[in-house]
Amino acid sequence: MHIGKIAIIGATGNVGRSIVEMVLTRKLATASQLKLYASDRSEGQTLQLAGSEFTVETTTEASFQDAHLCIFATESPVSKTWIPTALQNGAYVIDSSSEYRLNPDVPLIIPPVNLSLVRKNQKLYAHANCLASPIATVSAPLHRKFGISHIEAVTYQSTAGAGKAAMDECREETHAILEHRPYVRTVFSRQIAFNVIPQVGEMRADGLTFEEYKIIQEIKKVVDPQLSVTATAVRVPVLIGHSIALRLEFVKPILVADVLAALQNSPSVKLSPDLYSTPVEVVGSDDVWVGRVRHDSSRPRDVHLWLCSDNLRRGAATDAVEIADAILGF
Ligand SMILES: NC(=O)c1ccc[n+]([C@@H]2O[C@H](COP(=O)([O-])OP(=O)(O)OC[C@H]3O[C@@H](n4cnc5c(N)ncnc54)[C@H](OP(=O)(O)O)[C@@H]3O)[C@@H](O)[C@H]2O)c1
Repeated sequence: MHIGKIAIIGATGNVGRSIVEMVLTRKLATASQLKLYASDRSEGQTLQLAGSEFTVETTTEASFQDAHLCIFATESPVSKTWIPTALQNGAYVIDSSSEYRLNPDVPLIIPPVNLSLVRKNQKLYAHANCLASPIATVSAPLHRKFGISHIEAVTYQSTAGAGKAAMDECREETHAILEHRPYVRTVFSRQIAFNVIPQVGEMRADGLTFEEYKIIQEIKKVVDPQLSVTATAVRVPVLIGHSIALRLEFVKPILVADVLAALQNSPSVKLSPDLYSTPVEVVGSDDVWVGRVRHDSSRPRDVHLWLCSDNLRRGAATDAVEIADAILGF
């Protein structure tokens, strides 16, 4: 089938670069079918990705002409500005930002859970964030099989989750501290090097951060609106890879062996071979790695798990590219 061009908007960013590499290595499209866009700061910049060289262009109205598929790896305001134009041009659109995720008219896709919602006559899709995606990937099959009443997640989020400028700040602040130099932060509100920050995103009036709110609402939208979900999001000085301490409260008492057996057969889930995984060990993997699965002897309906995933892949580039693969298969 002949398809028009595939436009990647935000192609210079962490998620955008991973999407381009994955589209090429998975042979969803050839380099000549891809056009890379970013802000006017990046106009003319050359990117080498998966063995091909691209020249980045500024995003304008013309970027969306003849586009069959547009993948937005941009922050919400940029997605909000340009997605209507892409849709008016008849393109399929996948958005990595939070702009449309909770819109009832837009399917929120976590590919291991609900990729079947991708349909020919639906043009706009959002994928979930890089916490909701791994948590739902693990919880949804367990909920379907055994029934979960409550999910409690404490997240240990890498700096890559806040974009490439945040990773640079983590590196530079680390160097400055080791070399006894002053450092002026521009991304994080508190010291990130050798520290943890129990706030990801702006605070809301109800005491949650917006990140925690998004995790809760996105899990409910995809897994089950009736679920009760709580989350505490913490930023840690890790470059890439999110970790999650997850407590699942089941409707009835459950055996750890039954949870392990169910997870062994769940898509995009891997049981950690050596008790647990750490973030640096899962970089480059598309799966959610599960370890330390254990009972709470005081609460027979509870099971605790330790999850690790590459946040630039699961809940980001991998999810976008799996949705793209389904769209390109129409
Ligand atoms: N990082 C993660 O773990 C993760 C996971 C899931 C979802 N997301 C979401 O994915 C999106 C991208 O995140 P990221 O971490 O890749 O961010 P990032 O590294 O900061 O990259 C942002 C991209 O947006 C581009 N951009 C900025 N202003 C623009 C404009 N006016 N017009 C067109 N492009 C513009 C930037 O281009 P310039 O280089 O020219 O500034 C850059 O390519 C965000 O919505 C984020 O919330 C991120």
